[in-house]
Amino acid sequence: MTTSRPACLDWLQMLTGICLVVFMYLHALFLASIILGPGAFNSLADFFEKYYLAQKGGPAIALVFLVHFFLAARKIPLSSREQKKFLSAAKMFRHRDTWLWMVQVVSAVVVLLLGAIHMWVVLTDLPITAEKSAARIQTGYWLVFYMLLLPMVELHVGIGWYRLGIKWGFIKSAARHRAKRAEYYLTTFFILLGLIILVRFLLLSS
Ligand code: HEM
Repeated sequence: MTTSRPACLDWLQMLTGICLVVFMYLHALFLASIILGPGAFNSLADFFEKYYLAQKGGPAIALVFLVHFFLAARKIPLSSREQKKFLSAAKMFRHRDTWLWMVQVVSAVVVLLLGAIHMWVVLTDLPITAEKSAARIQTGYWLVFYMLLLPMVELHVGIGWYRLGIKWGFIKSAARHRAKRAEYYLTTFFILLGLIILVRFLLLSS
């Protein structure tokens, strides 16, 4: 049996998507250690450093991130003619999942740009420490930057796993409503957690 190239690329898009969803939720939980204090955050960061998870894992995630976005870009309507056609179809269908796809496309562009800048800045300034992160966020510009990136990435990740589940059949029709609710709750939870993390960094005295 031969598998077509578009099917292989679709598989790769799904696998890189799953990796990134898992990574983003773990990344938020890692950052949440700052709520316990800089000691807890620095111990975790030291652990990642000791086992080369930051030095090797960081660039590996950056690569998965870029591959995922380039694969997904195949499906984005790039010309204004395609975009107009898509918008009028979405209006006609009044289908919520079609609108979710639009949020997915818009958030993808923001996440690609800001996410790439963020990874470059963090990975070229290793080791990660609570003091360095706090200093960055307290400059103000980075706070605005993260306030934009945070909701965009959580929306992208939440809608992403929901749409993956529907497309690949992990979420059956009967469970669709429950899955959508779970997605809303999880996305709200991670946005709130991210805001608490930012406030905690902001209030950390140097
Ligand atoms: C390459 C792996 C990554 C590492 C090592 C990393 C590390 C960090 C660190 C140390 C912070 C604290 C703030 C700072 O130091 O500036 C942070 C915050 C943040 N990161 Fe990452 N990051 C990575 C990938 C990503 C990706 C791929 C995204 C999304 C595209 C992302 C989104 C965020 C957001 C939104 C915050 C703000 C904190 C929050 O409120 O949750 N990070 N990251």
